[in-house]
Amino acid sequence: MRVRAFIAGVCASLAAMFAANAAAQQPAPSAASAQICATCHQEYVNTFEKGPHAARGAKGTPAALNAECAACHGDVSAHLKDPTKAKPPMTFARTQPAGEQNAVCLKCHQQARQLTFWDSGKHGLNDVTCGSCHSIHGKGTAPRIGPFVTTQRALEYQTCNTCHAQVRGQILKASHHPIIEGKVACSDCHNPHGALSPKMLKSESVNDQCLSCHADKRGPFVFQHPAVQENCLSCHQPHGSVHNNLLNEKVPNLCQDCHDWSRHPGTIYSGNQGFPQPGTASTGGASNTRFIARSCLNCHNAIHGSNAPANRGKFLTR
Ligand code: HEC
Ligand code: HEC
Ligand code: HEC
Ligand code: HEC
Ligand code: HEC
Ligand code: HEC
Ligand code: HEC
Ligand code: HEC
Ligand code: HEC
Ligand code: HEC
Repeated sequence: MRVRAFIAGVCASLAAMFAANAAAQQPAPSAASAQICATCHQEYVNTFEKGPHAARGAKGTPAALNAECAACHGDVSAHLKDPTKAKPPMTFARTQPAGEQNAVCLKCHQQARQLTFWDSGKHGLNDVTCGSCHSIHGKGTAPRIGPFVTTQRALEYQTCNTCHAQVRGQILKASHHPIIEGKVACSDCHNPHGALSPKMLKSESVNDQCLSCHADKRGPFVFQHPAVQENCLSCHQPHGSVHNNLLNEKVPNLCQDCHDWSRHPGTIYSGNQGFPQPGTASTGGASNTRFIARSCLNCHNAIHGSNAPANRGKFLTR
């Protein structure tokens, strides 16, 4: 019995192999086989038909549709012969190596400008697959959402943050870029397909990135604040912060990371280096009322640079 079953099995797989070879020479399945492809996977055909891959193909004939299925799932002839015995060579299951899955997509999409640095990008290098972010068939029968049909979710960031838990925490802080509000997307600043810049930013440098939206901070100003020219992130967080205006820490501590007590105004909490208050000795230890609220910014309000003449501009006080 066993031997017979074994022989039968070998015959069947040989037959499948020959069928596969035949199909390799002539990739488009016949019209007859094409009907059944949809009969068994109606759901997947339905969701597929709503997407850009089907829309671009020869719409209408099932044969053309099935050839399109084969464009991603590979040679389906063995599978069509006996679906329970042989799956299509590419099922995009987790067990299939990320590189092989991505190669299928890159076969057609390699030329896309924004995929140029996929191979050197952090995602490509860390076995993230195209399917981690893109849904070809949607989830179950649910239609796919968004102009790029990029995700199964309402907003892009939700897809990103299934993996980036740390960023999920950051964008929920009191001061944040309006990402959860849907006004700014992760991909406004990052190219998820990889980039030459640090952290896969879309612009060459952090400042270029920020200034692409916050053009008023670009200058040039008559009086620059060198820290601003150097890197916005010396003072700001890109995703979210517990301090106002996405600041790294509260003012005056922020300023005093770079400006020490040896020049005006000293260490404000000590009392003896600050602006003397009326009625208090400079060594008196009274706290300085000028440092409440916006603190240093009460006077130095043109913190990103100033065009005001003379001292007001020079000291960023207007
Ligand atoms: C006669 C019904 C039938 C036809 C026709 C058929 N399939 Fe399947 N297909 C199945 C069954 C049943 C399975 C599940 C096999 C398993 O789980 O072992 C399957 C599995 C698959 C899988 C893998 C799913 C998984 O669980 O890993 C893919 C992809 C697939 N089929 C694509 C296709 C494509 C593309 C076509 C048309 C070219 C096609 N199938 C034609 C019945 C069919
Ligand atoms: C552009 C590439 C692409 C094309 C074309 C394509 N698929 Fe898929 N298919 C995928 C990917 C990626 C997955 C796995 C993830 C998902 O569901 O989106 C998948 C999953 C499937 C599965 C389920 C696999 C599983 O593990 O459960 C079936 C069945 C299937 N496709 C059938 C089809 C049929 C039928 C067609 C033609 C109408 C087709 N696919 C066309 C990329 C494609
Ligand atoms: C046979 C070639 C081919 C293969 C293989 C292929 N695609 Fe496409 N894809 C296309 C074409 C053609 C378009 C439509 C392009 C357009 O509209 O400019 C497209 C569009 C897209 C889009 C943009 C959708 C939109 O709404 O603009 C995404 C995302 C995409 N494909 C992802 C994938 C992924 C992920 C895979 C692998 C699972 C894949 N593609 C495999 C040919 C292919
Ligand atoms: C980390 C998530 C992520 C991964 C992984 C990913 N993409 Fe994308 N993809 C996106 C996002 C987000 C967009 C929309 C970008 C935008 O709006 O600028 C997009 C857009 C696209 C587009 C449409 C581009 C256009 O200009 O219309 C194509 C095509 C595409 N991706 C293909 C791929 C392919 C192929 C892979 C795998 C090699 C892949 N993507 C991997 C997130 C991802
Ligand atoms: C306003 C622009 C902007 C937006 C929007 C944005 N980022 Fe960033 N992100 C940056 C900058 C700038 C850095 C570089 C930080 C650095 O160099 O320390 C960064 C760094 C990162 C890093 C690397 C962190 C590390 O410590 O290495 C990840 C991961 C990341 N962002 C993911 C995301 C995700 C996910 C989203 C959407 C929820 C997102 N970003 C939205 C600008 C942005
Ligand atoms: C499937 C999980 C996954 C998803 C989804 C995902 N990422 Fe990533 N991402 C990773 C991994 C893994 C790394 C590499 C982590 C590392 O190097 O520490 C990474 C790294 C990054 C980095 C840091 C790059 C660097 O140079 O350090 C950025 C920025 C980033 N991802 C943005 C995004 C954005 C934007 C999205 C959504 C469009 C996204 N990611 C979706 C897994 C994911
Ligand atoms: C895609 C456009 C875009 C980019 C790029 C961008 N921002 Fe923003 N930024 C916004 C929007 C939109 C707001 C919200 C404005 C509002 O609420 O009036 C904002 C708000 C801010 C705020 C005020 C936050 C608050 O709590 O009120 C700061 C500070 C800021 N951005 C700094 C940066 C820095 C630093 C970068 C570079 C890492 C950057 N932005 C890049 C669009 C952008
Ligand atoms: C020396 C520290 C510092 C640097 C560097 C810096 N900022 Fe700021 N930024 C601040 C402070 C402090 C505030 C709060 C100002 C206030 O409350 O009046 C602020 C506020 C902002 C705001 C929101 C309020 C507004 O004026 O629109 C934006 C947007 C902003 N910064 C963008 C940037 C960009 C873009 C860069 C890089 C080109 C940058 N910042 C570099 C300290 C800095
Ligand atoms: C990352 C370091 C850094 C941070 C943080 C920083 N600054 Fe500066 N700041 C500088 C440098 C460098 C100069 C140029 C000093 C020079 O030309 O002698 C400067 C110049 C100034 C000047 C003009 C002084 C002069 O002599 O021309 C003022 C005023 C000033 N900063 C105020 C502030 C305030 C207020 C804050 C906090 C909101 C702050 N700075 C945060 C680095 C920083
Ligand atoms: C009451 C208004 C006021 C406050 C508050 C204030 N400053 Fe000033 N600051 C000035 C004026 C006015 C000048 C110009 C002094 C001069 O003409 O010599 C100045 C000058 C400076 C200079 C340049 C000093 C030099 O010798 O070149 C720096 C740096 C500076 N301030 C930083 C700060 C920091 C940091 C804080 C918060 C801890 C702060 N200031 C708070 C009014 C103020």
